[in-house]
Amino acid sequence: VAAFFTPKRLAGKRVLITAGPTFEPIDPVRGITNISSGKMGFALARACADAGAEATLVAGPVAQATPRGVTRIDVQTALQMRDAVMRNVLAANVFIGVAAVADYRPATAADHKMKKAGGDGLTIELVQNPDILAEVASLPNPPFCVGFAAESQNLDEYAATKRAKKRVPLLVGNLVQDGMGGDDNRVVLFDDSGRHEVPHGPKDAVAEAIVEHLAGMLA
Ligand code: CTP
Ligand code: CA
Repeated sequence: VAAFFTPKRLAGKRVLITAGPTFEPIDPVRGITNISSGKMGFALARACADAGAEATLVAGPVAQATPRGVTRIDVQTALQMRDAVMRNVLAANVFIGVAAVADYRPATAADHKMKKAGGDGLTIELVQNPDILAEVASLPNPPFCVGFAAESQNLDEYAATKRAKKRVPLLVGNLVQDGMGGDDNRVVLFDDSGRHEVPHGPKDAVAEAIVEHLAGMLA
């Protein structure tokens, strides 16, 4: 009964979320990607929608069902993800960057399937992708920005550095071995008031805890 009368914590908020990996083509049949499943980003989109937000999800290539009530935009590459974000960010009150955006892409993608040549190795030149979260956070009138940090060691130190460098008020840190690709996660929230541990659990429960914390910061 109480839940029925409690106003939804993100009612009236428009939330834009990135999720999944990106795929950076080398040729028509090959590319660079990573092990992100999209589960954490999709769980967050669902939790935001459940909390009353209007949620838009920009998703890299993942095998996830779109949560009910969530608007989904599918993309492949980091450049496409950035375009989709920039087209939708002006309307957003909150931006949550969950995507494991490929940091580099091949400088050029071959038009045709590359043929194996001789017995030598192959060198592919990579160029850096734009940092979507940092670009959004440095807009003149940015939405409230939430970043993720995927680390394999030194979580507290790296996450705090990332939060300062990208100038985001809330950064969600996790160790890749705790979460990436799996069903569960263990995260630590970093904000101005310090560090807040979220108990290990299914990504849906972790997402709800993140949304609770976010709603508290927005209030
Ligand atoms: N991010 C992004 N665009 C990129 C790279 C990262 O929007 N090109 C966002 C991610 O969605 C995440 C945050 O930035 O919210 C941190 O991503 P992460 O890969 O942990 O950090 P990087 O800044 O890329 O640094 P590094 O990979 O070297 O640790
Ligand atoms: Ca990265």
